[in-house]
Amino acid sequence: MNIGELEALLQDMTIEEKIHQLLQVNSSFYQTQGVLTGPQDTDRFSVRQLELAGSLLGTVGAGNLRKFQDIYLGTQPNKIPMMFMADIINGYKTVFPIPLGQGATFNPGLSKECACATAKESAASGIHVTFSPMVDLVRDARWGRVMESTGEDVYLNSCFAKAMVEGYQGEQVSEKGRIAACVKHFAAYGVPMAGREYNFSELSERSLREDYLLSYQAAIEAGVKLVMTAFQTLDRIPCSGNKKLMRETLRNEMGFQGVLISDWRAIYEMISHGFAENEKEAAKLALEAGVDIDMMSDIYVNQLTELIESGEVEESLLDEAVRRILMLKNELGLFENPYKDGSEEDEEALFLCEAHRSLARKAAGESFVLLKNEGILPLKKNEKTAFLGPYINDKNIVGSWTIFADEDHCVSIKEGVLNKVSSEYAVFSEGCNLLDPGTRFAGFRGIVDSSLQPNYSVHEEEALSMAASCENVVLCLGEHRQRSGEGGSIAEITLPVAQIEFLKKVTAVNPNVAVVLFNGRPLDLREVNQYAKAILIVWFPGSEGGNAIADVLYGDQIPSGRLPMSFPFCTGQIPVFYSEFSTGRPFVNQTDTRFASKYLDIQNEPLYPFGYGLTYTEFSYGKPEVSEESLTADAPLQLKVKVHNTGSCDAVETVQLYIQDMFASVVRPVRELKAFKKVEIKAGNSVTVEFEITEEMLRYYGIDMVYKSEAGWFTAYVGGDSRTKNSVRFQLV
Ligand code: GLC
Repeated sequence: MNIGELEALLQDMTIEEKIHQLLQVNSSFYQTQGVLTGPQDTDRFSVRQLELAGSLLGTVGAGNLRKFQDIYLGTQPNKIPMMFMADIINGYKTVFPIPLGQGATFNPGLSKECACATAKESAASGIHVTFSPMVDLVRDARWGRVMESTGEDVYLNSCFAKAMVEGYQGEQVSEKGRIAACVKHFAAYGVPMAGREYNFSELSERSLREDYLLSYQAAIEAGVKLVMTAFQTLDRIPCSGNKKLMRETLRNEMGFQGVLISDWRAIYEMISHGFAENEKEAAKLALEAGVDIDMMSDIYVNQLTELIESGEVEESLLDEAVRRILMLKNELGLFENPYKDGSEEDEEALFLCEAHRSLARKAAGESFVLLKNEGILPLKKNEKTAFLGPYINDKNIVGSWTIFADEDHCVSIKEGVLNKVSSEYAVFSEGCNLLDPGTRFAGFRGIVDSSLQPNYSVHEEEALSMAASCENVVLCLGEHRQRSGEGGSIAEITLPVAQIEFLKKVTAVNPNVAVVLFNGRPLDLREVNQYAKAILIVWFPGSEGGNAIADVLYGDQIPSGRLPMSFPFCTGQIPVFYSEFSTGRPFVNQTDTRFASKYLDIQNEPLYPFGYGLTYTEFSYGKPEVSEESLTADAPLQLKVKVHNTGSCDAVETVQLYIQDMFASVVRPVRELKAFKKVEIKAGNSVTVEFEITEEMLRYYGIDMVYKSEAGWFTAYVGGDSRTKNSVRFQLV
C-alpha cells in the first residue's frame, strides 16, 4: 500500500476498529495455547475485542498462524491483517548463546549472523516481529536479566545492538526471511535499585544520557522498527507514562518514528505504581506519552472510546498510534501477503539445519571465557578424563528465555565429548545435585523444587572414585537456568553449597580439576578459583553447547572469549564495573590507609574484570605509538601497537582500546572502551594492530549538558583487558 491508501484506510476505520489495532493479546485467550510470559488475568477480553485485536504475541508455527490469520482477517471490517510477535531472544529452534555469552565473543558480526539465521527460522514459522534485542546496560549481577544483555559497557552494547537489529531486519523487513526487531526496554530497565526485579531506577539525567541511552540510540540508527517501554519508574515516573522520555527524548531527540509497544501489562500497572489513579487515567497518560500498543492489558480497549468521545483525549493521538501500526504492517508487506513467510516446508528445511547448527557451534565456542588455566587445558584425547557434575548430561542449556526451542535437540556435554573421544578416555557421573536441598522458587514456567530434581548425590562415591582414577577431572557446575532471566533476581550470587562441597571433595582426590560453569550472570567464584586449576565460563551455550565445550576442552577450538561484565569479588561489591570514577581519594593500594575509597574487608577490584579472558597461548604488547601527539576535529590520529604471540599455538587476541579524559568539565571515567579488534596471531608471530582515534570518540555531556569534546589531554590504554596499563598520552586541540 502507498501512503495515500494507508491514509484512506485510516479514514475508513471506525473508532472501535482503530482502538483495537492498539491491543496486543496472548494467544492463550484464543483457542490456541500460547506461551505466557507474564501475569495472566483470565477472561479480561470480550470475544469482539479478541476478534479485532491488532496483534498477537506468544504463539508460533506456520500452520497455526495461517489459521489465526484466516479466522481473524475475516472478522476485521477492513481486512487489516494481524501482526504476530514473540520473544525470540537468542534463537528460535536453533539456539545460540544467551546474549551475555554473545557479548563475550566481542564479535558483533557473529551475532548479526546468528540474528539473521534466527530471523529465517522465525519468519518461516509465521513470526513478523521479535522482542529483541534487549540492550539494557547492566552492572548489577543480582538482577536476573543481565543474561539477556551484552553487558556492562556502553560501546560494546551499542555495537551488538546495531548488529542484531541489522541481522533480524536486513535491508527491508518485507524481504523473505526477515523480521522486525523491537529494542527494549526503554529506558534504563537494567539498573533496578538493589538488583531487585521491576524496582525503580534512579539515575541522573547525565548518567542516563552518557551511559544508558546510547545502546538504544544505536538500535534506532540501525533502523529498529519497534521500541518496548520498560516496566520500572525512571525519575519516579513509570516509563509507559513518561511523556518527556517517550516524546521529547525517544522521538524528538533520538529520532525514533516507529511503533512504541508497552511491556506486558505495563500500562495497567501504572495504577500499582501509584501514578495513575484508575484505568481511565492510565489510558490517557500512556496515549499522551505516545505508547502505540497496549500489550496484554485492556486499558486502551476499555477506556479510550469514552476518553475520545468526551474530548478528554484528542482523536489525533489515536490516529497517530494507528498510523504507525498500519505503517509497520505495510512495511512487513502484510496487506499484500498476510502470511508473510510462513511455510511448513521452509520450517522443515531451516529448523536446526546444518548451516545453523555449525553457526551455533561457532558462536558458542567463541562465547566461552577461560578465566584460569594452570596447565590442564587443553585435555589430551588419549588421556582419561572424568566428567562430573550436574550438567554433564543436561540438554536444557539454552537459557531461560528460549521458549520455542526443543531442548532435546541440544547436544549435552557427554554427547559432545563422546563425539570427539572414545569412551575409553572419558567417563561420566554427575555425583552432585544442581540445587541445594530445600531449594524452591518460582521458575519462568512453574515452580522449581530441588525435591523434584534428579538426586545425583547418591552416586557421589562412584564419581569420586572416577576422579581418583583419571588424569584430569572436568567438573560441570552452574546455576539453574531459571535462576536468571526475568523475575530471577537473587541476593547472593553464589553457587549452591552442594556444588562447592563436591568441588572440594573432588579436588581432595584429584587436584587436576577444570570447572566448566553454566551461568546466566557473573557469580562469586572465590571458592571455585581457590580449588579449581581451570575455569571455563560457558554461560548457556545453546543447541550446540556440548560440541562447542568439547571443541574448546580438547583444543580443537582455541578459547577467545572476553568478559562482557565484571565478575564481582563478592555480592557486597555490586555494582562493580571497570569504567568507574577516580573519586577524590582513590585507593591505589596504599597499605593501611584509612582515608581512601576502599573497603575494610575486601579488595576494590572484581575477581575478574571486564574484557578479561585467557587462551591457550600468551600474548605480549609493545608500547602503543601515536602518529601525532595531538588531534583535531578534522585530523584524527592513528594509534598502533605490536602484539606478540609468545606461546606455542595460534590464537585470537581481542585487542582493546580504552581512552581516559584526564580533566574535564565533569568527572570522567578512569577509562572507557572505544574500540576493539579480534586478531588471529600465529604462534611466535607478531601483528601490528592499528586504531584511529577521532574527535568524535572524545565527546561527552559536559557541564552544560551539551554532547561535545573539549580540548585537553587524554590517555589511550591498549591491551587484553580493562586493567591494562599499556598507555600513551595525546591531546585534543
Ligand atoms: C515480558 C518481558 C519482555 C517481553 C514481554 C513479552 O514481561 O519484560 O522483555 O518481551 O514481556 O513477553
